[in-house]
Amino acid sequence: MNYESPKLIFKNIPSGKIGWCSPSNIALVKYWGKKGLQLPSNPSLSFTLNKSQTETIIDFSPAENNKCNISFFLEGIPNTKFAEKISGFFSRIINIFPFLDQLDIKIYSKNTFPHSAGIASSASGMSALALALCDIENQYFESFSTEKEFFRKASYVARLGSGSACRSIYGGLVNWGKAEGINNSSDYFGHEIRDNINPVFEDFQDSILIIDAGQKKVSSTIGHNLMKTNPFSSGRFIQANKNLQSLLSAVKYGDLEEFVRIVELEALTLHSMMMTSSPYFLLMKPQTISVIEKIWEYRKETNVPVCFTLDAGPNIHMLYPYDYKERVIDFINTELIKYTVNNSVIHDRVGSGPAKIAI
Ligand code: PMV
Repeated sequence: MNYESPKLIFKNIPSGKIGWCSPSNIALVKYWGKKGLQLPSNPSLSFTLNKSQTETIIDFSPAENNKCNISFFLEGIPNTKFAEKISGFFSRIINIFPFLDQLDIKIYSKNTFPHSAGIASSASGMSALALALCDIENQYFESFSTEKEFFRKASYVARLGSGSACRSIYGGLVNWGKAEGINNSSDYFGHEIRDNINPVFEDFQDSILIIDAGQKKVSSTIGHNLMKTNPFSSGRFIQANKNLQSLLSAVKYGDLEEFVRIVELEALTLHSMMMTSSPYFLLMKPQTISVIEKIWEYRKETNVPVCFTLDAGPNIHMLYPYDYKERVIDFINTELIKYTVNNSVIHDRVGSGPAKIAI
């Protein structure tokens, strides 16, 4: 599959502003390991979040010298590191959007969650950017005949920026990666799962406990690459496919016990993969383990179906049904808050996906 389109060149180069707001997502079945051009070694499944979003506005005007000139502002402050990152990304997608070389581009980006929260902003950031680029194409070339085509291309482009970003293009429960039994699943873009979802999962909550707000210890690019030599990777990829099927069935039948089991197994397997790679990484902190043990104790005592998951870092996402919100927040405030940095908890939930910013 290929979106290269040499005809997308402006006859009259415009000026304008386009913006999109896009959420982060939390994987239930983890993508860890990739092949080819940013294609996943196993299918994954995530919840799109609601509050944790990136707002990105692209301000474009005719380029002065036929080469896209990029400036990037994070929370209003020029950021050359991000500008370089975006410049690398644009060189990878220039055959998809050849008009980019006709434009000078200023990107204004801000996160609705604190920048220092240690939450990965690459999924929300890259998906917002991909949507804004597809929207420029839509506005000036009218190349999409349906919304579905528009979002599919945005997901394809977001994937090239950051794999998991392709799932943030859609709301609710999203799959990425060819998987048995999921019609339209693809390694190239995300796919919204709409059917066979028990209502208990429609307003699922995600309370994010910030255990460490520092920079990532290992970049996901390095982490994914380590799966090429990890001795357990082939078993892991088989397991992820199996876990995906079991999780879809748990979601269909509202089986919270099975949901909890698979989500936690996936989180710990992701970290096991990092601990068994060469070089190896330990990304949990002592506080991460303490919180996990407290959650296990609490679940055993109360039967409240709350579970944890982790990204490639020490912060904890606590997932639970809406009906238990008050009790879980009370548990967090009394027993878990002491393990966080400066009492940082973000009470988020499953969200409906990106939205265009009215400018
Ligand atoms: O999208 P990347 O390359 O940052 O990788 C994300 C990997 C995990 O967050 C650990 C898992 C996932 O599926 O989101």
